[in-house]
Amino acid sequence: MPRTLEPEFIGKTYDDFLVRPERALVASRKGVSLAARLSRSIRLELPVISANMDSVTETRMARALALEGGVGIIHRGMAIDAQAGMVRAVKRSQGYVVERPLCLPKTATIAQARQFTKRHGLSGILIEEREGSGKLAGLLSHRDMPWTEGNDDRTVEAFMTPISDLHTAPPGIGVEQAERIMFEHRIEKLPLVDASGQIAGLITRKDLTTFRQRPYSSRDARGRLLVGAAVGARGDYLDRAAALLEAGADVLVMDIAHAHSDLMQEALERFRARFPAAELICGNVGTASGARFLKDLGADAVKVGIGPGRGCRTRLETGAGVPQLQAIREAWCELGEELPIIADGGIRSDKDVFLAMLVGASSVMLGSVLSGTDEAPGHVITDPASGEKRKIYRGMTSPQAVLSALYEADEQDAEGALETPAEGQELEVPYRGNVVTILDRIRGHLRSSVSYAGADNLATARAQVIERPLEHLIPLSSAARRESYER
Ligand code: XMP
Repeated sequence: MPRTLEPEFIGKTYDDFLVRPERALVASRKGVSLAARLSRSIRLELPVISANMDSVTETRMARALALEGGVGIIHRGMAIDAQAGMVRAVKRSQGYVVERPLCLPKTATIAQARQFTKRHGLSGILIEEREGSGKLAGLLSHRDMPWTEGNDDRTVEAFMTPISDLHTAPPGIGVEQAERIMFEHRIEKLPLVDASGQIAGLITRKDLTTFRQRPYSSRDARGRLLVGAAVGARGDYLDRAAALLEAGADVLVMDIAHAHSDLMQEALERFRARFPAAELICGNVGTASGARFLKDLGADAVKVGIGPGRGCRTRLETGAGVPQLQAIREAWCELGEELPIIADGGIRSDKDVFLAMLVGASSVMLGSVLSGTDEAPGHVITDPASGEKRKIYRGMTSPQAVLSALYEADEQDAEGALETPAEGQELEVPYRGNVVTILDRIRGHLRSSVSYAGADNLATARAQVIERPLEHLIPLSSAARRESYER
């Protein structure tokens, strides 16, 4: 039964409330669980997903997010093959088995091998008998490569460790057994080979260590990292969805600016007819009726946010939008716990993540907070005058992002696409280094928030507040806001 939105939330957003402190339950924040639902069948240990924007999420960001317990959503501003390739790259890495390891034939040259390792970031390559044969011939590790740079046209066969000297294992080997073999023989890589000598996978020491060190990472049943990818609602979106699912995407995000629309309805109906079982997040909406609309059409999670994003000009240009805390609360009042709600856009500080979750969100999508990091696409620019380092963050409907998406997809119709006035803008943001530092900070602050709220895990803190949030939230006067936030 839908509830009525509390009038106190109308027109309100993150800086309008503080959380009333309660008696603390935990002595140490370290073990405080932050587990939450992302969508109907995916749970995350860190309820954070990275925005499907071309200045935020490609392979590196998606990998980092999944390793830290969140999920990255790879943007769609590129050709289908390129996006599917990024999904594949995330799925290929950091499970404890690399299922389809990259190979070179034994006739490849050392120069080609060197280029190959550089391009794919590998420290060793499986060598196959003939190109495409999949039959293991040997292993070329970085230690086997001659030191000479330049155009070395000797074949890798002359330098590799041949199969007769390699330790291999059958596919399906368990973590413990693989670790034992690798330790006993002091090897860094264990190729998996089936009875007929075909390459069936690769286990690396680095991946095993990472797997062990991060039990909270987001992984599928086979130990591979989770990854999401975005699709639109027109054009080739069904072919894109098919390619992304085939590449192993665990969740798709059908993402358009105004999802409470006929365009979304038609797209979602056609999507569901073709991919009934695919996990699908839909958005964006900003109202109760928008959230109900997406739920009834078969979305597995609803993404909420009309215009709060930092790279976004929708509210300025169209006058349309809903203050973000109101939008989240409206959606929750309509859906309750029937379907997870993702709060997308407008999060500037870590406390906003907690507030979003206390009033209804199950997870948050972050754009600008994660931009400016090493893992975000784009180059670091050093200001020649001040020496400050920056990166570019831009809305996906900014003219720059629209043009580059057309260019990447090799489409000619640039003028047509730019006829709709932009509702996004480009900004320079400070360079922030490694994204893991930011995710660690968010995790730490969320755990402290849980403790201040008098609970010992995030799910309990949320459950204590969500039915009657006004008993736990303090509305701020402008003086209280100054006292709270101005430093
Ligand atoms: P933050 O505030 O985290 O917001 O940087 C990220 C979200 O902003 C949305 N987004 C846009 N909204 N025009 C818009 O109206 C745009 O060009 C645009 N690009 C991104 C999107 O929901 C993202 O997750």
